Parts: sequence; C-alpha cells; structure tokens
Amino acid sequence: MSATANIGVVGLAVMGSNLARNLASREGNRVAVYNRSPERTRELVAEHPEAGFVRSESVKDFAASLSKPRTAIIMVKAGAPTDAVIDQLVEVFEPGDIIVDGGNALFTDTIRRERAVRATGINFVGAGISGGEEGALHGPSIMPGGSVEAWQTLGPILKSIAAVAEGEPCVTHVGTDGAGHFVKMIHNGIEYADMQLIAEAYDLIRQGTGKSPAEIAEIFAEWNKGELESYLIEITAEVLRQVDAATGKPLVDVILDQAGAKGTGAWTVQTALDLGVPVSGIAEAVFARSLSSKPEQRAAASGLPGPGATLVADPDSFIEDVRLALFASKIIAYSQGFDEIVAGASEYGWEIDKGEIAKIWRGGCIIRAQFLNRITEAFAADPGLVVLVTAPYFRGIFERAQDSWRRVVAHAASNGIPSPAFSSSLSYYDGLRAKRLPAALVQGQRDFFGAHTYRRIDREGVFHTLWSEGRREVQVDSN
Ligand code: 6PG
Repeated sequence: MSATANIGVVGLAVMGSNLARNLASREGNRVAVYNRSPERTRELVAEHPEAGFVRSESVKDFAASLSKPRTAIIMVKAGAPTDAVIDQLVEVFEPGDIIVDGGNALFTDTIRRERAVRATGINFVGAGISGGEEGALHGPSIMPGGSVEAWQTLGPILKSIAAVAEGEPCVTHVGTDGAGHFVKMIHNGIEYADMQLIAEAYDLIRQGTGKSPAEIAEIFAEWNKGELESYLIEITAEVLRQVDAATGKPLVDVILDQAGAKGTGAWTVQTALDLGVPVSGIAEAVFARSLSSKPEQRAAASGLPGPGATLVADPDSFIEDVRLALFASKIIAYSQGFDEIVAGASEYGWEIDKGEIAKIWRGGCIIRAQFLNRITEAFAADPGLVVLVTAPYFRGIFERAQDSWRRVVAHAASNGIPSPAFSSSLSYYDGLRAKRLPAALVQGQRDFFGAHTYRRIDREGVFHTLWSEGRREVQVDSN
C-alpha cells in the first residue's frame, strides 16, 4: 500500500461517508477510507467512483495509505466506540501524526483523550462538526480544538471542506484540547433553545389565531426574509407545510408529541450548573423535551384545572408580538451560550475568540442565522463586553421588542399555553437588569438558619446576625 492519501476517514456511516465525499470533492485531497465492517467500505467506494477513495480493510493498511503527517478523522459513535478506534490508530500511527475525533464527544472526554494520545507524541484533535448529513456533504461548520501544531496541518484541509459564509470558511482553531467540543456542545445547547422557542412561537400562534400549520408555515417563511432569517426558521416552514400522505393531515399533527434527545443539550446545562452560569433558556428547552416525553404523567395531569386558549382580537398584531418575543428570547439564548463559553474558557484555560465563534456559526451549522454577524460586530466593537445583551444593537432590539415580549408571555400565562423558554428568557432579562434582587432576602434566610453570613451594601466585611441571641449583628471576618 503506498502512501497516496493526505487525509483519511474512519467510520463510514452517513456522516462519515458524506464527510469523506466532501473531502474527496475538493482540489488537492486524496481520501483514504476505513470502516470496521469492510462491506460498508466496498459499498461506498463502488457507489462513488468519482471520489477516487483509497480503500483499506485493515487499520494497518489504512495507516500505510496515508502520507505523513498522517491525518485521520474518526466519525464513529461518541463514547466507547471512539475510544476503541483511537486505541487502534495509536498502534499504527507515529509521533507527529494527527487523530481527529469529529463526533459529538463530551469535551471532558476529549480533554482526557488528548492528554493520553499526546503522551505518545501523536496529536489528538476533538473537532465539533455541525450541519447534519447535508452539512457534512456540502460544507459543515467545524469547531476544532487541539494543538496549534495540529491545526497547521489540519487547518487547510478543514478550510477546504467547511461551509463558506460571506467568503470566509466556517472553521477556526477554537482553542486547545477540548475547546472545540466544548463550543460544539454550546452550539447544540443554543440549538435546543432556538428550536424550543420556535416551537413555542408556533403553538402560541396556532392557539391564539386558529391558523392552520400550512398558514403558519407562510408566516415563518415571511419571517425568514427579515431579521430572524435562519436555517431553523426556514426548515420550520418546510415541516409545517408537509402533509402526511397516509392521512392527508398536516404531518405535524400526526407526529407523536414527545421530543427525543441524544444528550448534548443536557451536557450544556450540566456543565453550566458546574460553572455557575445561568443558561435558563437552554435548560428550559432540555426540560421541555423531558416533560413532553412523560406520557403517563401528562395523561394523569391532563384533567388539572386551567384556562382554555382563547382567540386573540387582532391576529396580525399578535403575530408581530410573537415574532419580536421570539427574537428577544433568541438573543437571550445566544447570550447565555456565550456566557458559558467565557466561563468554560476561564475554567479550562482556553483563549476563545467569541467573535470568531459567531463567525463560524454563520454558515453550515444548525444554528446559522443572519444575526450572528451582529454578535461578531458586538464583540469586535467591545472585546471586553461583559454581557452580549448590553451591546447597542441588542439593546435596540429589546427597546423594540420588550412590550411585545411581555404581552406574549402574559397571553401564554392567562391562556394556559406552556411557554417555558419565552417566559424564562423574559425573567432572566428582568433579573439581569434589576437594580435590586430578592437575593438579599435569600442571604438573610441563609444567615438565619445556617449562619451562612452576608455582606452589606454600605460597609466592607462579612456579617452575621445573632438570630437567637438578641438579634445583634456581628462582623465575622477579620477586616
Ligand atoms: C449538528 C447537530 C447534530 C445533532 C444533534 C441533535 O450540529 O449538526 O447538533 O449534532 O443533530 O446531536 O441532537 P438531539 O438528538 O439531542 O436533538
């Protein structure tokens, strides 16, 4: 076997084979392919003669087919299968070679793997790849971590296959070790929030105006021409337009209303809890899927008291309110996601350029949206921006949207329409901008039952009230 390929792909299920075909279609690439079951490899090679794949049926041959530094992208199931392939490649690769994990790995696994593989002199790169099957084939958004050295070899290859947004490839070296998979995890958390918000918008419009899914599809298609333009809005229109061939009903009405999840949204929230970052919009989206998937509890609770939804008096202005509420809530979700990136970067020692992340999310990925340019601009204009929502452009949106947002959340509450993501986003917004929060009372309670102490607004130091000894305040720090 001669070393003719400059890049290899291990794992040839849909994502892997599409990525391999994408690589093969770009000038200068020769792609080696390997799969655990050789039948799949033979099938892919036979189906795509135009790709000129270099086929191997053993890991050893696969390694021999790659020029140095050998570079291979693993596209197998996250978890144990990934570890198994890494172990095999480490056996046959040499120092300076590069192993890329392109799956949806948990970033802490990537940190562990990077450390273990680095000890052999081989580079390990965890790369988040977003865009689903189509993205893998035509141009995904790619979020690689790993060393700068690995990026030097890998960068041009990844740039050749990434989506292009406004002339720029949607890939950047995110940071070292697990930074790429961390940012992909946040991408997915935002994806969950965005999808839930869109679903709530649809439900509010349907229940508030009585419009059919096909009519609501037209509303989303219209929204997609303006500031809400995004892939998720676009596909929402497609899904709502779809008619079920078997029943003639809107497809959305025959799909079981229980949303699944593979876990990346939950990781985003679990990590946020550890980092102490309030990603309430993302958390509500994850919980909304959990609630939907509890049929027994839902059946048992279906007779509980609550109002039925009434139709609004002015559908057009209500729809516009929902549009603005969606935009405002969406900004909250992105802002919370970026907060988690900042906290993760500080915890794990990554230098992550937030503006660059917004840029590489403009194309290829599931959350691609027009307004990501505004995020890049906000971070560029003020690199020290404390919280995204305060950037002038976003402030302007809140000025325009907040009355609508409040009307929509009030309508949802008074009509018994669940809107966890809309409502929690608005509460987060109000919490963040509040001059004074009832957290002061929580501190008082903590001090009362556990002597957990508090600080005062008017004096330095740490204080405790002797609640059962005359309620006299004492200063408990040494200041
Ligand atoms: C992407 C998607 C992709 C996948 C998610 C969805 O960026 O291409 O995020 O990674 O579709 O894992 O996961 P759920 O099954 O959890 O919704």
